[in-house]
Amino acid sequence: MREWHAASAGDLDPTALTFPAEFLFGAATSAHQVEGGTCNNWTLWERTRLAAGERCGRAVDHWHRFESDLGLMRWLGLQVYRFSVEWSRIELLPGHYDDVALGRYRAWCEALRDAGILPMVTLHHFTEPVWITERGGFENPATGETWVRFVEHVVAHLGDLVSHWITVNEPTGYAVQGWWRGEWPPGRTDPAAALRVIDNLLVAHSEAYRAIHRAGAGHQVGLAHNIAVFLPAKRYSPLDRLAAGRLHRAYNLAVLDALATGSFEVDLPGLTYSTCHDAVRGTQDFLGLNHYYALTVRVRPFAEDQLDVGFSSHSDKNDLGWSLDPTTLAAALAAVSPYGLPILVTEHGACDAAVPDVRRRRFLAHSLQVLREAMAEGADVRMYIHWSLIDNFEWAYGFSPRFGLFRVDHTTLERFPTTSADFYRELIAAHRADS
Ligand code: NOJ
Repeated sequence: MREWHAASAGDLDPTALTFPAEFLFGAATSAHQVEGGTCNNWTLWERTRLAAGERCGRAVDHWHRFESDLGLMRWLGLQVYRFSVEWSRIELLPGHYDDVALGRYRAWCEALRDAGILPMVTLHHFTEPVWITERGGFENPATGETWVRFVEHVVAHLGDLVSHWITVNEPTGYAVQGWWRGEWPPGRTDPAAALRVIDNLLVAHSEAYRAIHRAGAGHQVGLAHNIAVFLPAKRYSPLDRLAAGRLHRAYNLAVLDALATGSFEVDLPGLTYSTCHDAVRGTQDFLGLNHYYALTVRVRPFAEDQLDVGFSSHSDKNDLGWSLDPTTLAAALAAVSPYGLPILVTEHGACDAAVPDVRRRRFLAHSLQVLREAMAEGADVRMYIHWSLIDNFEWAYGFSPRFGLFRVDHTTLERFPTTSADFYRELIAAHRADS
């Protein structure tokens, strides 16, 4: 990886970066984080497990303000809007679908199409109806079938307007946070269960993949996979390198290998898992990449906790302490390129509450430069989708991390463009003028 000296790097000219004419720029949100008024596994969790005040509640009221938020997308010149449909809103009770809610999502898709913005729909973004949680969520292998019925219903309603589908957002993030680290619902700390959850999600994804293709021609289906870049704390330490490589294979590659070959294999100290499902093989039309940060891996052979994994201290940090190193995007792209699929960057961004958001603007500018260079060197990237369009509810951290291109005043719910939005807007305008 090339060295990056953020401190000496000045701002880049947004009009100086040229991307291929067919390349698309977008922004993303997810239902629970922005809509408001949802009632799902997270709603229950927030009541009992998050500090008072850290409840999603009305979020940023995107459900009622979609039309004016579409104005923000138009102002940015977005070409793609990635959002999720909320399962608990559409199927609050088992088998009872709310076609009024689906109708609202349909109106969004129509409005996006009219504005020349491609709708990209995520079908599972960390949330599910409470009755699904009561049945064990995705730890229960039967949940996949129920979810695929929901997917079929959504595709029947939106399929003529939507061509790009993300089945599952970050299967590893959802499983590791919820079943391994216990920081998200259902709050379990059972690594083997986390792997079973990923396995069940992969099977469910593959069934959804086939269901969407059965529904009609021209659909593009994938999942959004999170890649964290693992760096040895000491570059020349064989132990640190070995551990970083093992974590990379388990956390980053195991899911992609399963989608390519059907075999899901994890091999970590004290934890092995191995299954094979032929049905999972070859079920991605594109590779959706979510990428945020690098983690440093240090082995301390004589400590009680031998493996120390933390945010890299070599770079700037965002407000959550995550590394802000633009070159890690190149490393993430290098990890996924060998799978030979078109790559869509389905999420990338940083939280920066400062006004003006100097760190984020610089990070965005330099990350896009790194992306362009990786493409020039052969990475087959077709889209870049920034997380997020607007400030929102950042799961266990509540509202304080601000990931939005638009800052939201959480009292009045007014939206204000950040300097990152200004940069992105100019870049997209120059790109569209060239295309
Ligand atoms: C990935 C998740 O998909 C999204 O929900 C979250 O807000 C961002 N990462 C930032 O943490």
